[in-house]
Amino acid sequence: MDIASRPSTPIENPETADAAVPPQAPAVIRREEYQPPEWLVPEIALDFALDLDSTKVTATLVVRQNPEGSGGQTLRLNGDGLAARTVTVDGQAANDWRMDGQDLLIELTGQNHTVEIETVINPAGNSQLMGLYASNGMLCTQCEAEGFRRITFFPDRPDVLSTYSVRMAGDKARFPVLLSNGNCTAQGENADGTHWAEWHDPWPKPCYLFALVAGELIANHDSFTTAGGRKVDLNIWVRPGDEDRTQHAMDSLIASMKWDEEAFGREYDLDLFNVVAVSDFNMGAMENKGLNVFNTRYVLADPQTATDADYDAVEGVIGHEYFHNWSGNRITCRDWFQLSLKEGFTVLRDQMFSADMGSAAVKRIEDVRVLRSAQFPEDSGPLAHPIRPDSYQEISNFYTSTVYNKGAEVIRMMRSMAGVEAFRKGTDLYFARHDGEAATCEDFVVAIEDGAGLDLRQFRQWYSQAGTPQVKVRLDHEGDVATLHLSQVVPATPGQPVKQPMPIPLRLALFDRDTGQHRGEELIVLDAEQASFAFSGFTRIPVLSINRGFTAPVAITSDVPTADLVFLAANDDDPFARYEAMQSLIVQHLVAAVGGGILCDAERQAGRDAIGRALAAVIDDSALDDLMRGELMILPSEAYLSEQLKVADPGAIHAEREGLKAWLGRELKDRLTALHDRVSALPYGRGADARGARKLKTQALVYLAAGAPEEAASRAAAQYAAADNMTDRQGALMVLCGLDTPARDDALADFRQRYDGNALVIDKWFSLQAGSLHPKVLEHVRALADSPDFTLTNPNRVRALYMSCAVNPKAFHALNQEGENGEGYRTIADLILALDPINAQTAARFVAPLGRWRRIEPKRSALMRAELERVAKAPKLSRDTLEQVTKSLG
Ligand code: PHE
Ligand code: ZN
Repeated sequence: MDIASRPSTPIENPETADAAVPPQAPAVIRREEYQPPEWLVPEIALDFALDLDSTKVTATLVVRQNPEGSGGQTLRLNGDGLAARTVTVDGQAANDWRMDGQDLLIELTGQNHTVEIETVINPAGNSQLMGLYASNGMLCTQCEAEGFRRITFFPDRPDVLSTYSVRMAGDKARFPVLLSNGNCTAQGENADGTHWAEWHDPWPKPCYLFALVAGELIANHDSFTTAGGRKVDLNIWVRPGDEDRTQHAMDSLIASMKWDEEAFGREYDLDLFNVVAVSDFNMGAMENKGLNVFNTRYVLADPQTATDADYDAVEGVIGHEYFHNWSGNRITCRDWFQLSLKEGFTVLRDQMFSADMGSAAVKRIEDVRVLRSAQFPEDSGPLAHPIRPDSYQEISNFYTSTVYNKGAEVIRMMRSMAGVEAFRKGTDLYFARHDGEAATCEDFVVAIEDGAGLDLRQFRQWYSQAGTPQVKVRLDHEGDVATLHLSQVVPATPGQPVKQPMPIPLRLALFDRDTGQHRGEELIVLDAEQASFAFSGFTRIPVLSINRGFTAPVAITSDVPTADLVFLAANDDDPFARYEAMQSLIVQHLVAAVGGGILCDAERQAGRDAIGRALAAVIDDSALDDLMRGELMILPSEAYLSEQLKVADPGAIHAEREGLKAWLGRELKDRLTALHDRVSALPYGRGADARGARKLKTQALVYLAAGAPEEAASRAAAQYAAADNMTDRQGALMVLCGLDTPARDDALADFRQRYDGNALVIDKWFSLQAGSLHPKVLEHVRALADSPDFTLTNPNRVRALYMSCAVNPKAFHALNQEGENGEGYRTIADLILALDPINAQTAARFVAPLGRWRRIEPKRSALMRAELERVAKAPKLSRDTLEQVTKSLG
């Protein structure tokens, strides 16, 4: 083949190539401006000559003019920091190509060509962890959303689907295992110590699903036979030494494959499914076709090193990535505005899976807790966006709780309205109709309408309007009729000052006060600004239980009497509603206590007494299982409490919540002590009882530590010392970390030394200290940042230290420093500035906490804003961080 090298070729090193591009205002990409691609790439062959700091990539693209395009002859191939060594068209050195910024353009005639391009990239120098990069001596890729353009020039957009053939060759000792998508079709060795492998993926896919892994890996191997009789080889690949911690991931994978057949009728479609764990990863995991790449934290688990929550996370993420094989891969997204098409739906699927694997009630409560503490604040802040955004500057910034978690809630609402069976008809139709396509959210909605028989015309508002709807609820009673009055307001969000009413499905029950019973649930839909619903046959006003199961992702305000909340907290037969009543009881009290400080001592005492009685009833209720009891005992987070207030004073919220916790710890001391003793007697097991016991063990300690720190410190130290599993050990250490006691230092030192060399557990060591209630928490954060174990190049370590700090009000809002001097804000801003050049994607995620400034009391607000302005003034910011900072200030 004829090879032409261009003398004018600019820069070889992708990192320095970035710097050569002059700074300019980032372009805004708009959903409405979607245009089909001019050229398709039905086939691509990739050849990799692997090397840690200089990998040669030869890409051969079979291109065909798109009949649905506008007939343009220019082939635009996206690049990011690439330089073409050679470009040939149909075997001839091409002269008709040029660079347009980072992209390579080729003028073509006719409709079919073969284009070959050679690039050289430096994986070891790739600290952004997008494209091909090195992690612990191994090579791996991350291409979603726009990483493939850092490997080779290509139309890097999800609506260009190609069949991939991959060949890779490299040093056999350094890269003994060579993996890519699909099936391995050939492999061999060369005399010079290198070896090679060829892979072929029969399923056409967008380039964001391409993956390659090369390194020293060892597999936990198993197999699964699909309902249709296909035997699938399963491998979980990890670094040698980690293989003993892969069984839970394997069990979860097999359970996922079986569950998707039963719950959604989806079968796996290749003979091989590989999962690889890497320790340097920007996100949780990636659903590359047949070759999922995972952050180690969502693969490795054993009782000694993983908590029960870690086990659940592994199961959930393994399921999530596996489910993407249909919701994401077989049907992908037309463009990145449709991200929630695959992510919202897949989150719903993983939530349903986890609910079926364990306690559905507890899973629902956990999912709502995540939504309220992460997505609600996003929806009420400067970065609010609809689940299908209208514009972006950097798509990486839109992998958000809104797109993922609210996206799942929106589809869940369709399921609630349709009913389980009709919804399944809708998803069956969606999979049948769009298999092999790059689809849109609209396609999904139409398929659900057609298949499930729903009219979703107004419901589409959930895709286009941002903001959490606020629903006001009032129940009145006359004669034997109870009337429910509902009204809704969808708050203004950036770019969306005026909103239309949304259809809000609410499942409700009305309880008879005397019998404690209700006569069945009803699902009503509030689809106007206001509506009333009458229910007859009530001689007394009933107790209202509304939004049961959290059918709609809305915020409900009502002036329910405390007595009704106490009634529901003790009697509601819907576990979520029972949890909700308990939360509302506490939220109402704390909001009244901090919202202007209008509570007199007697009122504060009355509020605490009601909560104390309700909590005591929860501890005493023998009909409750311990996992659920643990949920009912959790206090609402400070983030969720702040959400209830237009302008929050984090200091007041913290003090009032800690005050309540301490009061409860003292008031219920005997009960909590007895509880801690009871659950401590249970041996370790993976069953619900033992897990429930472990959850309560630490819950009880948390209250006791707030109430009587000294006594609790020895109890926690004893729990730490006696622990035969990470859940108990981490729980005890968490409590100790918040106390000013010598036992704290002893336990931290023991922990550090005991788990030396286990990066994921050392992450916990960082995270527990940065997330603690200790008065000197910020001092600890600074010391940890200077410790030899800390590095800005590993996202897990960065998050362990700094995200724990940013979401810890005690640290972030510097609640213990003499005067609130903004030290926490400065710490996070400094981190953003230091991390941005190394890993922009991860850096940009730290902007949101500072972006809350408008909702914070004036003194802190000014300090937060000043830090954002300081970041904005930095001479060179990534597009990722610049977009978030600009929007947060705007
Ligand atoms: N698509 C991945 C998931 O949700 C998330 C991801 C996005 C991973 C971007 C890496 C990069 O499963
Ligand atoms: Zn996903």
